[in-house]
Amino acid sequence: MKHFLKETDLQPHEVAEVFALARDFKAKRGRHVPPVLANQTWALIFSKSSTRTRVSFEVGIHELGGNPLFLNRNDVQLGRGETIEDTAKVLSRYVHGLIVRTYDHSDVEQLAAAGSVPVINALTDFLHPCQIYTDAFTMAERWVGADGDLLGSLRGRKIAFLGDTACNMANSWVLGAGLFGMKLSLSGPAEFAPTDEFKALAKAEGFEDVYEFTTDPTEAVEDADVVYTDVWVSMGKEEETEERLAQMAPYQVNIPLFERAKPDALFMHCLPAHAGEEVSANVLKHERCIIFDEAENRLHTQKAIMAVLAQQARA
Ligand code: CP
Ligand code: NVA
Repeated sequence: MKHFLKETDLQPHEVAEVFALARDFKAKRGRHVPPVLANQTWALIFSKSSTRTRVSFEVGIHELGGNPLFLNRNDVQLGRGETIEDTAKVLSRYVHGLIVRTYDHSDVEQLAAAGSVPVINALTDFLHPCQIYTDAFTMAERWVGADGDLLGSLRGRKIAFLGDTACNMANSWVLGAGLFGMKLSLSGPAEFAPTDEFKALAKAEGFEDVYEFTTDPTEAVEDADVVYTDVWVSMGKEEETEERLAQMAPYQVNIPLFERAKPDALFMHCLPAHAGEEVSANVLKHERCIIFDEAENRLHTQKAIMAVLAQQARA
């Protein structure tokens, strides 16, 4: 069974298929698309808040002819101690796919191992792969040349990721940069440098040379094609708010810092954003800020990911 728990779970031909389908689904939205999830129900099990991920998946499943079933973790017996294994086995008897947002990354791995339907990681404390595929697709839309080669347009590009360089988005960007042939400069406080555990994962994936870490944000944004940031206080880290805001203040993406990147650099953020913290209000209004294209593309890209997994599940 094919799952999508981390960026590298798809083979190169499947990645190419996701990009091609996302482009097609976007171009044909509102017109006929093959109902690849017809007669299927896909469950969303969420333990954390969500605007973009929940709504884009629910709408996407509906547009592919399927039925979305949203389950808050606390509304099902999982929240009262039923095991992940039993939950996976039971739900696999009813639904055709599981889309899961949770804290521990091992939860999605256990669901995938115990169940018999595709599992999609809709964000864990460790990774957010749906966002990375969407972000890469959104960049490629801007950079693609006359040859139409979306993936080719990403190769060799540089992303500067500022702020909480130990969060799920930063981890995921290391895998994304390796997968898409990009370079990544992570810049945040020394306390948020990649851990030995994370370095081991990057090495295991063969991506140890795709990223660097610096405490100097100006060094990170130099020659960057994209300046990217995320909230300084991820879900689950709320009790560290005061300390994090003080530690990360030098890493705010503001106009003087953004102007040190390439003259045509894009600003991106997975959202939700906190203006005045990780990004200044005027960068969020900048003509090269593409956050709403990025948010829209969650829909098209995730439809493509589900289509690829559903096709494999049927095979
Ligand atoms: N970017 C993102 O995953 O947003 P939500 O938390 O609103 O789903
Ligand atoms: N790092 C953020 C991403 C939100 C989409 C969080 O985990 O809260």
